[in-house]
Amino acid sequence: MPQKRLLIIAHAPSANTMRLRDAVAAGAGAPEFDTVELAVLSPFDTAPADVLAADAAILGTTENLGYMSGALKDFFDRCYYPCLEKTQGLPFSFYVRAGHDGTGTTRAIKTITTGLRWRLVHEPVICRGGWQDSFADECTKLGATVAAGLDAGIF
Ligand SMILES: Cc1cc2nc3c(=O)[nH]c(=O)nc-3n(C[C@H](O)[C@H](O)[C@H](O)COP(=O)(O)O)c2cc1C
Repeated sequence: MPQKRLLIIAHAPSANTMRLRDAVAAGAGAPEFDTVELAVLSPFDTAPADVLAADAAILGTTENLGYMSGALKDFFDRCYYPCLEKTQGLPFSFYVRAGHDGTGTTRAIKTITTGLRWRLVHEPVICRGGWQDSFADECTKLGATVAAGLDAGIF
């Protein structure tokens, strides 16, 4: 079976955000999706070549000061033009850990990925407010849904 590559680009500066990243990876890495291989990277460690090699992507960030983390913004700053023209249609989704809002980050990610012409294949997961274990469950489902779509050749 040909392997498809799912790239998880997750900024995880706290124990809770590490849980979210690991939950996405656990959902996506379930054994039934045996045609899907995962790459889990910090935005700081993600290069354009990683995106060009990916068949789908899930982004994860905190909301800081009403916007995505500097880490994810740095990823876009470095990768936007090298990926533009070459990654159009990339299936993707994202999750946001927001202490109390999340709208600025959601809007910003949607604006940038509209510019890249990436294809949102799952509603973003916004983990808003005080920590709840259900956030991790939602992230597991996010990972599983995107991996299932790749595995089934739907994307
Ligand atoms: C400097 C700073 C700015 C923040 N700004 C926002 C913000 O604008 N909107 C928001 O929803 N949360 C904001 N937060 C909260 C973070 O999103 C939250 O601390 C982060 O996602 C980590 O969550 P955790 O405490 O569950 O690990 C901010 C946190 C810090 C440290």
